[in-house]
Amino acid sequence: MSQSLQEQYVNRGIGHAICRLIAENGPSGIVYASSRAGVDLALHSTRGVYFRYAILDLTNPSSIEHLAWIIKDEQGDMDVLFNVAGLNIMKPRTGSRAFADNKKIMDVNFHGTLQMCLAFLPIMKPGSRIQSAKGSRAAQDGWPESGYSVSKACINAMTAIMAREHADILVNACCPGWVSTEMGKQVGAQPPKSAIEGASIPLRLGFEDIGHVRGRYWANDFVGDTDNGRVQNW
Ligand SMILES: NC(=O)c1ccc[n+]([C@@H]2O[C@H](COP(=O)([O-])OP(=O)(O)OC[C@H]3O[C@@H](n4cnc5c(N)ncnc54)[C@H](OP(=O)(O)O)[C@@H]3O)[C@@H](O)[C@H]2O)c1
Repeated sequence: MSQSLQEQYVNRGIGHAICRLIAENGPSGIVYASSRAGVDLALHSTRGVYFRYAILDLTNPSSIEHLAWIIKDEQGDMDVLFNVAGLNIMKPRTGSRAFADNKKIMDVNFHGTLQMCLAFLPIMKPGSRIQSAKGSRAAQDGWPESGYSVSKACINAMTAIMAREHADILVNACCPGWVSTEMGKQVGAQPPKSAIEGASIPLRLGFEDIGHVRGRYWANDFVGDTDNGRVQNW
């Protein structure tokens, strides 16, 4: 990949914040911090956390399969899958061109995330966790009524179905709140939460004691809240 494309496709946002917090607080182990360019984030940890910077494009099924194969080959199995990658187009075009924009959003947010789960489920340990990012309650928070909302409603449905089919894995979805990342800033106003604050609900679902709750949607009551979430209706 060329240098300019590398700069464009840097591992960023809430995914980057999740990695930084794992580096600081553990638990120990290997983290495959993936992005389309496989950018080296130079993360260091004194807590026995080691980072591998893998290439992953959610719109390319062979890229997903390849990463699952690498992790199986190198680690055998895994404990947690964070599905963080997402795309929004705030001003989708109108008419027939709107279809192309909405398809692009669905391809990453829903089809890509579903492919991730299907590729990685066979190597998830019993008792392991899958956590997928879901959007905020779109319209009332100023997000557009676009394919984005539909793609994230599909994530909730997928989460419920997958939890029913895989009773030994804690599959959940969450909204990180309104977070100051490239995506969050597209709304126009300044998002109230930092990327680090946006990482707190995903990290709770990934590593903390949540009992046996599965197939649910977690969020705070308001998109600016910095609590670490509770089960909500969607
Ligand atoms: N920010 C908010 O306020 C907010 C609110 C609700 C929900 N969310 C959800 O939280 C998640 C993270 O969002 P964010 O705010 O961190 O957004 P962001 O800063 O725009 O980052 C999006 C990430 O998705 C990755 N990505 C996009 N297309 C991809 C593809 N085809 N294959 C692989 N990776 C791809 C990007 O990877 P590259 O580095 O390779 O470009 C980037 O790391 C998303 O699912 C989003 O819908 C965010």
